[in-house]
Amino acid sequence: MKNIEIMYFSGSGNTEFVARSLCRVFGEKGIEKVSTTRINSKLTGDIVFSEEVDLVIFAYPVYAFDAPSIMYSLARRLQSESGLRAGILICPGDSTSYNFTAAENFARKLKRKGFDVIREDFVVMPPNVFSRVSDCVASRLFRKAEDRVVEIAEAYLGEKKRRLRPPLLANIISVPMKGKNIGDGIFGRAYRVDEEKCTKCGICVSECPVSNISIRDSGETTFGWKCVMCMGCIMKCPEKAISHPLGFVTVERYDLYGLSDSKDKADCLPDKPKGYYMRLKKYLQE
Ligand SMILES: Cc1cc2nc3c(=O)[nH]c(=O)nc-3n(C[C@H](O)[C@H](O)[C@H](O)COP(=O)(O)O)c2cc1C
Ligand code: SF4
Ligand code: SF4
Repeated sequence: MKNIEIMYFSGSGNTEFVARSLCRVFGEKGIEKVSTTRINSKLTGDIVFSEEVDLVIFAYPVYAFDAPSIMYSLARRLQSESGLRAGILICPGDSTSYNFTAAENFARKLKRKGFDVIREDFVVMPPNVFSRVSDCVASRLFRKAEDRVVEIAEAYLGEKKRRLRPPLLANIISVPMKGKNIGDGIFGRAYRVDEEKCTKCGICVSECPVSNISIRDSGETTFGWKCVMCMGCIMKCPEKAISHPLGFVTVERYDLYGLSDSKDKADCLPDKPKGYYMRLKKYLQE
């Protein structure tokens, strides 16, 4: 393997962190050419890979036990490939196997396009919706992610295949979840900017994957109907100037790269973990 392309979609930055780490590790392991491409609405037209590419890895977060809708739009524009090796890397906010439908569904699309899907992997990252974990827990997840990408890179280089198998019930649950896309646009329209805090830095505008945010000549920041509910604007605004009427849905930003550098080894999981924390503990110990 000499040439690897990593295509990733990332709203609040978790998947970007994982994709870039994986890119770095492949480089350290002697792969001649590894590149990353961020998936956003500016990536238009047919997606054609050079004949020199040996492997394409698609990385993305999990939304409602499925792949984000932007991934399916991308899949429709992928040129049919005869046997090009592909991999899937999901970055959910929970380590439940119900999330594996997000890999299974997208793998099916890739196979229909003629890709040879050789691996499906997951790296659990801090949740960016509903409930925020502490910085200590987030930092442990980032460090674990760094170990996971090394294992994943080695597995690819060792030609080890892997498929993520969701429980049967997961497929039934993920079907009604598909209605989510309809609500996204409405959700996004309701974002508000505190003009007192906003410095007009433009980060939210440039980072929105679907160009849904604009700053008017009057200085007012406005949101259109194209939101995909990625949480990027709210979590990337350095001034914490963006809010939403459904405040319980949004979570405060994590200092991604700062957390990853943290040397804090404290065990910050509850003594008797249940549910999410029980799954997390198992994942962190794997
Ligand atoms: C609308 C929405 C739905 C989500 N649904 C799930 C889910 O079903 N399962 C899960 O584990 N995480 C879920 N998450 C959490 C994200 O998948 C997770 O935090 C991810 O690492 C974010 O990646 P990003 O920063 O690259 O966007 C959801 C997040 C959003 C915004
Ligand atoms: S990222 Fe925050 S501070 Fe910067 S323009 Fe957007 S709302 Fe304003
Ligand atoms: S407006 Fe919607 S799509 Fe754009 S960054 Fe914010 S949450 Fe993501």
